[in-house]
Amino acid sequence: MAIINWTEEYSVGVKELDHQHQNLIAIINRMYALYKDNKFAKTEAEPLFKELFDYADYHFGTEEHYFQIYNYPTKDEHTDIHNQYRTKMQGFKDRYDAAPSPEILFEISNFLNEWWIWHINNTDREYTKYFNANGLV
Ligand SMILES: [Fe+2]
Repeated sequence: MAIINWTEEYSVGVKELDHQHQNLIAIINRMYALYKDNKFAKTEAEPLFKELFDYADYHFGTEEHYFQIYNYPTKDEHTDIHNQYRTKMQGFKDRYDAAPSPEILFEISNFLNEWWIWHINNTDREYTKYFNANGLV
């Protein structure tokens, strides 16, 4: 069972970014499935961590690129929030590396669920009108 299901209510009004959010949610659901299936060993989780970190960087990079192009007024605040996420996730990863366990995968899945849903519905949604007005849909 998935921990998150993307629905239209999570749309930020930009197709490319919605698509990236859907891909991120799919990775998070696979992380949760590792916990559910008790597959917490590094051989199982390491490639997924890499995918999650790389895809989040790619996605933040896309948003931050548009912040620059369209001179988005709160680009610095929004970028700071992305960087706080990176720091938080690195902390989780360090804890996992030191002691892999189902509990830490559960904790990470819950954090990811809460963080991304909140971020999409609040921080990201703040750019919808601005991006749409600049022709980014
Ligand atoms: Fe964002």
